[in-house]
Order: sequence, then C-alpha cells, then structure tokens
Amino acid sequence: MNIPEEIRIVEIGPRDGFQSIKTWLPTEHKTAIVKMLLSAGVDSMEATSFISPKAIEQMKDASEVVESVKGHADMDRIYALVPNAKGAERAHEAGVGRIAVVISASEAHNLNNVRRTPEESLQELKIIRREFPSLKVKLSLGTAFGCPFQGEVADSKLIFLIDGVLDLGITDIALCDTVGVADPLQVIRRVGLLQRRYAAQDVDWGMHLHNTRGLAAANTFAALTLGINKFETAVGGLGGCPFAPGSSGNMATEDLLFMAARMGLASKADIGSVIRTAEYIRDVVGLPIDSKINTQTRDTVTAAQGRADQARRPSS
Ligand code: COA
Ligand code: ZN
Repeated sequence: MNIPEEIRIVEIGPRDGFQSIKTWLPTEHKTAIVKMLLSAGVDSMEATSFISPKAIEQMKDASEVVESVKGHADMDRIYALVPNAKGAERAHEAGVGRIAVVISASEAHNLNNVRRTPEESLQELKIIRREFPSLKVKLSLGTAFGCPFQGEVADSKLIFLIDGVLDLGITDIALCDTVGVADPLQVIRRVGLLQRRYAAQDVDWGMHLHNTRGLAAANTFAALTLGINKFETAVGGLGGCPFAPGSSGNMATEDLLFMAARMGLASKADIGSVIRTAEYIRDVVGLPIDSKINTQTRDTVTAAQGRADQARRPSS
C-alpha cells in the first residue's frame, strides 16, 4: 500500500451537484455556497459549468457565479466545466483560468451528454487548445468504469482519450465513475494499469466517484492504496448527471474528510466548515443532502480531526 499522507479535495458540489437540481436555485444561494466552501479550505473547486442553457438551464448564471468568486479566492483554485469551444470562450471571457473538459470513454454516453463522439470531442479540445492557449485544462474522463448505456467500457477507450490529451500537453486527468458502478478491485486494476502505463508522463490523477450503489468510500480507499491523493467530492453528497440514467450523488466531501482524518491523513479543508455548508444547503436552501457525517456525529469528528492534526505534527 502506498497511502498518501495528505489528500486534496476538488469540491464539485456547485457544478455536479447543482446541475442535477430541477428547481431554480437563486444565484445568491449558489454564490453563498461557493464562498463557504472556498473559505472551508478546499484545494480547488468546480464552481459552475458553461454549457448550453437548453441542455441544463440551472447553469445559465455561470458568469455571475464566477464574478462573485473574484476577490474572494485565488482564481487558480476555480475550474468551470465546458463541453465545447463555445463553453471555453464563455469561461475565458468570464475570467476563468481552468476548465474541465468532459469527454466520456463510452461513445453512447458522450453522444447523449454532449452530442458528439469521443473522437469529435477530442477534435473540439484541439480547437480549444489552439484558440485559448492560456486556459489550463483538466480532462474529466466520464464513464471510466462503466456506462449506463453500453455497460462495460474497455481499457482501450480510456487509453485512446488519455493518449489524445497527453499529446495536447494536458496532464490533469480525473477518472469519473459517472454512474457509480465501479468496485474496489476494478479501481485497483484499472487505475493501477493506467498509472503503470503513464508512469513517465507525470499525470496528476484525480478520482470522481459517485455513490449510487454505496461503494464510493470503498472505491476511494482502493484509490488511496495506489497513492492517489486527489478526490472530486461534493458537499452533502450532492451530484448526478442528467444525461446518465440512474446517476446519483457523489462521495460527500465531509464523509471523505472524516475518513481521511480517522486514518490520520491530512487535508487543508476544515470538516466543521464543510458540515456547516451542508447544513446551510439543507436548512436554508432547502435541498436534501446525503452524507453520513453531520452535527450529530460531531464529537467523533472532533476526535478524528485531533488524530489528523497529531499525525501532521512533526515528531520531535
Ligand atoms: N454555452 C451556451 N450556449 C451554447 C453552448 C455553450 N457552451 N454550446 C452551444 N450553445 C448553444 C448554441 O449557441 C445554440 O444556440 P441557439 O439554438 O440559440 O443557436 C444551441 O446551444 C445549440 O448549439 P449546438 O452547437 O448545436 O449544440 P447541441 O445542441 O449539439 O448541444 C452541447 C451540444 C454540448 C452544447 C450540449 O449538449 C451541452 O451543453 N451539454 C452539456 C451537458 C452537461 O453539462 N452534462 C453534465 C456534465 S457531465
Ligand atoms: Zn459526476
């Protein structure tokens, strides 16, 4: 086992979480949550997405959300998801420096999600790189462990996309279990294979694990044993892709922080602040949340945090 000493959180609630909410969330609620999470100390965040409002109306205030973050946090911590060159242009105009370009390994899901084949999305990414060279790009590699339409997804489908983005100089890659079908052994085999194959390329792997079938924490642990230290999680366990039937929430940020703290792994994010944000989402915004760690379990949270702090302290 190669468990890392510290984990990094990419908070995705404001993007993956809000996109699946049907009723309109006022922009001021979105911006309040974004600011609370940034203040909680998450390493980075997908704050919104620049997609077609016809695809998902909820994200139509993307520019306003980005505007609200300016002056509140280092923009280098902020990602916006984009599906095409038009999204990259809008993100760039809004002042975003990092984009997450979503491409699914499964052709059927990519067609359903962004109306392109994976090959066409890769071509679009080439245009984005050419036209907006200053944008830092992450590949959000969807259906990396299985697809709601096509079932199993072969390693070769991932390798095709990873080869393609590495050719474009992109090494920030999130492996997304879009519909929560991965199992821990599959994570160890598949992610291990990719780590070995791309050992020379210095890829910054991230894991994006939906908890649809309750295996997100087990899959997270499987990735930890491989030395993976970057996790895309959502406050309150929000999340889901409207274009992937059966998809539901992500690994909850506070649950991962609890698990990490219990195991003595450090993190920059403060679990108490993330719990307070989840409670704000439930009590003020009125959305259901789906995390295990909350104020009721705070005593064990505090104990776990103490353990992590102790682990972090250099021994004299
Ligand atoms: N932002 C805003 N508007 C956009 C846009 C973007 N990034 N991309 C396209 N549009 C607009 C076009 O201007 C056009 O508008 P019009 O009808 O008023 O002229 C319309 O959307 C259709 O454009 P087109 O290029 O034909 O897109 P499409 O209908 O083939 O849809 C996507 C393709 C990618 C834009 C759409 O499927 C999408 O936004 N998907 C995002 C899905 C998503 O967010 N999933 C969850 C995250 S994994
Ligand atoms: Zn997701």
